[in-house]
Amino acid sequence: MRRIKIFDTTLRDGEQSPGVALSPDEKVAIAKQLARLGVDVIEAGFPIASPGDFAAVRRIAEEVEGPTIAALARTAKADIERAAEAIEPAARRRIHTFIATSPVHMEKKLRMTPDEVVEKAVWAVKFARGFVDDVEFSAEDAGRSDPDFLVRIFGEAIAAGATTINIPDTVGYQVPWKFAELVGYIIENTPGADGVDWSVHTHDDLGMAVVNSLAAVRAGATQVECTINGIGERAGNASLEEVVMALYTRRDFFEAETGVNTRELYRTSQLVSRLTGMVVPPNKAIVGRNAFAHESGIHQDGVLKARETYEIMNAEIVGREAAVMVLGKHSGRHAFKKALAELGYEIGDEELKPLFARFKEIADRKKQVTTEDLIALVEDERTRA
Ligand code: KIV
Ligand code: ZN
Repeated sequence: MRRIKIFDTTLRDGEQSPGVALSPDEKVAIAKQLARLGVDVIEAGFPIASPGDFAAVRRIAEEVEGPTIAALARTAKADIERAAEAIEPAARRRIHTFIATSPVHMEKKLRMTPDEVVEKAVWAVKFARGFVDDVEFSAEDAGRSDPDFLVRIFGEAIAAGATTINIPDTVGYQVPWKFAELVGYIIENTPGADGVDWSVHTHDDLGMAVVNSLAAVRAGATQVECTINGIGERAGNASLEEVVMALYTRRDFFEAETGVNTRELYRTSQLVSRLTGMVVPPNKAIVGRNAFAHESGIHQDGVLKARETYEIMNAEIVGREAAVMVLGKHSGRHAFKKALAELGYEIGDEELKPLFARFKEIADRKKQVTTEDLIALVEDERTRA
C-alpha cells in the first residue's frame, strides 16, 4: 500500500469561500479536530493576509500537536517572513510558497516573463529554506500551464530545496484523463522527482475536483490537498471526506492508504459546517443527511436482509449512526413493520393491512413520515377498532 498524505486546507482555501470568515478561536477549534482526524498537514492560513490570519496561524502553531502546520506565502520576502514567524512555535512546520505559471497568469496578472517567474520561484524556495526544512512549492494554475515549463520550474524548485511540489488545478479546468497524463508526465520528467512529495490541489468548477485528485493518485501523486465538505473558492476544493473514503473503499484499486481516522469524518464535517455557516447538502456523499438513508421499499428490504446490498460502506466507519430507514411513499411493508416494532408496537398481519394502507396515504401527502405520525396512526387505528 502506498501512503498518501492528506493536506487539509479548510482553514486557508476553505476559508476563501465567499461569505466565510472564521475567528482565531474557531480556527483553533477546527485545527484541533483536524489533528484528531489525523491529517498529515494543516494549512492554517495566509499570515500576510491580515493580522487576524497571522494570529490564528500562530495560535494553531502553538496549540495544535501532531500534524505539520503550513502557512501560505507568495514568492515575496514579506510574505515568507510573515509565514515563518507565524508557524515558528510548531514542532513540524512548512512554508508553502506559490507563483502562477500559466501563460494567461504570467502575461496578464504577473506581467512577468517565464524566465522571471522561474527566477522568482527559485529565490523564494531558497529564502523559505532559510527558515524551515520543509518547503512546498506550487505552480498556480498548473492545470492550464505548459507541461514542459512545469517540468522546468519544478526541477529548479527541487534543486533550490523544495521538499513538496504541488500541481494545482486552480480553476478546475482539468478532466481526470488529462490531469493524470499531466501529473504522470511531470513526475516522469522532472529532475529530482524521486526525492520529493508530489501533491495535487484541485478545484471543483466542473464538479471534478475529487475525481481529478484520485486520477492523480493513480498517476503517482503522494499528497492530496483538500477541504472538509469541499468548501473553498468558487465551487470549492476537493472534498477531504470523499477523497479519503474513495481511497479506503476502493483500496483494492488504488492500493493506497491515508492516515485519517475515518470515524472522525462526520464530526469534523458537522463542526466545519456549524462554524462556517456553510450548510452540507442532504445528498452530499459521506456526510450529507441522506448519504446513508434508504427510502424505497426495495432498498429497505435489501438492507434489512444484508446491509451490503445497498451500502458500499457502513455509516459507522465515518462516525455516523447505522443506516437510517426513511419512511416515505416508496417504503415497503417490511420497513414499516420494523419501524413500528422499534416503537414497541407488535403488529399482526390483520392489523398491518389497514395501517399500511393509511401510511401510504399519509406518505403521499407528506415527504417524510415521522415517528410522531406513526404513533398517531397506530393509536388512531386502535381507537377505531
Ligand atoms: O488553487 C490554487 O492554486 C491555490 C494555490 C495557492 C495552491 O490555492
Ligand atoms: Zn486553491
